Amino acid sequence: MTVSARKFYSANFNEADLAAESAFFSRLKMRNGTFKLTQVSRFRELEVAFRSIIMDRAHSLHQVLDVGVSTGLTTVELAHFLKDCGATVQITATDLFVQAHIVELFPEVTVFCDPEGWPLQYELFGVPIRPWIRRLDYATLAFIPLLLARTMLQPRLCSRIRAGRSDKVQMITRSLPEHCEIDFIEDDIMSRSEHLRGRFDLVRAANILNTNYFSVDQLKTAIANVHSYLRGPGAMVMVTRTSRTQENNGTLFELKDDGSFAVLGRVRGGSEIESLLLDFRKT
Ligand SMILES: C[S@@+](CC[C@H](N)C(=O)[O-])C[C@H]1O[C@@H](n2cnc3c(N)ncnc32)[C@H](O)[C@@H]1O
Repeated sequence: MTVSARKFYSANFNEADLAAESAFFSRLKMRNGTFKLTQVSRFRELEVAFRSIIMDRAHSLHQVLDVGVSTGLTTVELAHFLKDCGATVQITATDLFVQAHIVELFPEVTVFCDPEGWPLQYELFGVPIRPWIRRLDYATLAFIPLLLARTMLQPRLCSRIRAGRSDKVQMITRSLPEHCEIDFIEDDIMSRSEHLRGRFDLVRAANILNTNYFSVDQLKTAIANVHSYLRGPGAMVMVTRTSRTQENNGTLFELKDDGSFAVLGRVRGGSEIESLLLDFRKT
């Protein structure tokens, strides 16, 4: 059963219940049409394949960037994996959508929305209601109230947020590790962020840099941005994609002295965008 955002973010929600957490987040549709989807343990085969390489370099791993993390569930797993490999790291986890607000519009009418007032969930008299429109809604005409509600409420939600009349929350997992600091920030991998430049010993891009999401030109832009975020020669980039059958294709790259990438290891056939990284040259 869907839980309301108010209940989910309340102190008495069971923090250990990862299944309930995933169920809550997976029903949130962002304003770019994506859902907050992720899954536990999806990268176990990558961990097995890359463990020895990471262990060999554990002493030089300090700053890690995980790109497009959704709720950060797999970022937490990455933190555990790196610790197991002997690395002590700080992780920066990015996604387009991290921040959200709970706005009480009227008594018994609450909206969970993003900072631009895009509704992610309504709560009416304690009942959570989906604000996004699905195909069936066009047949049943249910899209009309949903569209009207969104259009009418968005400006009102925005002004409440700007006036500080909302509860600010983050759409991230509660399963944060104690041994590792994870800094969640909103960031678009398509735009160069100067504050990330030259900082990272390892960048992971899991289930984001693929041809399903982006065009080749966009992928080249993202690769150039990832390249600029690396500390220097010896830094690594892990690019992976999980198939519908939960198999992973991934490649672990190393930055060479001349600024190009070399393959350190592969899982299955490797990343589908491997050639784009290997052809990358800094201009
Ligand atoms: C399929 S999820 C992957 C989550 C996690 N890395 C995993 O593999 O389980 C993709 C995430 O990328 C985020 N995303 C999409 N476009 C992005 C962009 N341009 N910059 C940063 N994040 C983006 C989405 O919001 C979504 O949370």
